[in-house]
Amino acid sequence: MTSRLFCGVGELVTCDKTAGDESLLGLIHDAAFVVEQGRVAWVGHACGAPAADERVELGGRAVVPGFVDSHTHMVFAGERSAEFSARMAGERYTGGGIATTVAATRSASDEELRENAARLCAEAARSGTTTVEIKSGYGLTTHDERRLLAIARSFTSETTFLGAHIVPPEYAHDRDAYLDLVCGEMLTACAPYARWVDVFCETGAFGEDETVRVLSAGIGAGLMPRLHANQLGPGAGVAIAVEFGAASVDHCVYLTDDDLEALSTSATVATLLPAADFSTRGPFADGRRLLDAGATVALATDCNPGSSYTTSMPFVIALAVHQMGMTPAEALLAATAGGAQALRRDDIGRIAVGCRADFAVLDAPSYVYLAYRPGVPLVSATWRDGERVAR
Ligand code: NIG
Ligand code: FE
Repeated sequence: MTSRLFCGVGELVTCDKTAGDESLLGLIHDAAFVVEQGRVAWVGHACGAPAADERVELGGRAVVPGFVDSHTHMVFAGERSAEFSARMAGERYTGGGIATTVAATRSASDEELRENAARLCAEAARSGTTTVEIKSGYGLTTHDERRLLAIARSFTSETTFLGAHIVPPEYAHDRDAYLDLVCGEMLTACAPYARWVDVFCETGAFGEDETVRVLSAGIGAGLMPRLHANQLGPGAGVAIAVEFGAASVDHCVYLTDDDLEALSTSATVATLLPAADFSTRGPFADGRRLLDAGATVALATDCNPGSSYTTSMPFVIALAVHQMGMTPAEALLAATAGGAQALRRDDIGRIAVGCRADFAVLDAPSYVYLAYRPGVPLVSATWRDGERVAR
């Protein structure tokens, strides 16, 4: 059993309140940590570091937990740059372009879809992401949803059945028949490949009763609920998510005081997707208001070809700080431990004894630089399960 000592850590962000300086981020300066069998075995000040078989010197760089990107749609084909340009010329985002990606995805081979997802996952790893969640939702037939999830499964165990993304064009005049399919044959075929069930609960996608129906069917099939809600306007999505004990409700741009109260008194995480707000020129979700109310906040990319074509968690962190009123510490916590909580995981999102040895080394003396130097590729190496996976 080989042990590896990482030393010369100028600033270690543990996200473990019991460690370090007992701040939100559990910071340790002049730190070191030991990894054994893919897990963190020791964390502390460099002066107290135990001996190990190997040594990696990090030259005073900051180390943060690997980012947990708890909301992506990375299995798809095609692109929508023309739709993006139209939006930047004044068109509104309505989600109507999802059908374009559904058509491209249905006609793509498994190989094309796998290659595209692999490219995006590698890109994410280069910017410090060590866990991704991936949703289906661009197939919308039993065959295609199942194949998207099987492909997603080859990249992550955090897979989400999103057959209720939109009603596909061929069911436009019979949405009940589509819901029967989603809650019946499609769910049965997809459940073995998914951990979660999700619904796009929004005007133009699925309504309140439809959302309840799909979540109930998914739970009946052994999946755990999460939800897209309150992105384009106010609605009952947040209340439904909390009522169902969803791990997370995502977007949360339009929230009433009741929504805020519900979130702050439940275990449902509010996952904010600033890159989607940015890329749709929508208003930004109010991270400050959620945090002040006591809600748990996560940050994720929402990587998809329509509303948010980025894999960069550092970009998301910078946006959250610059546009959502979050401090650099709150944003980093939301992108790591918050994401882990949104996936109900306690083995990731922290650098603490027993956790998976997932971390990013920054070419910077402090995590603050992620927001302070926006757009600069600061991640110099990404390690997952104790192995170097990027740079
Ligand atoms: O989370 N909101 C629904 N789904 C995606 C957008 C998908 C698309 O536009 O292709 C989202 O933003
Ligand atoms: Fe999404």
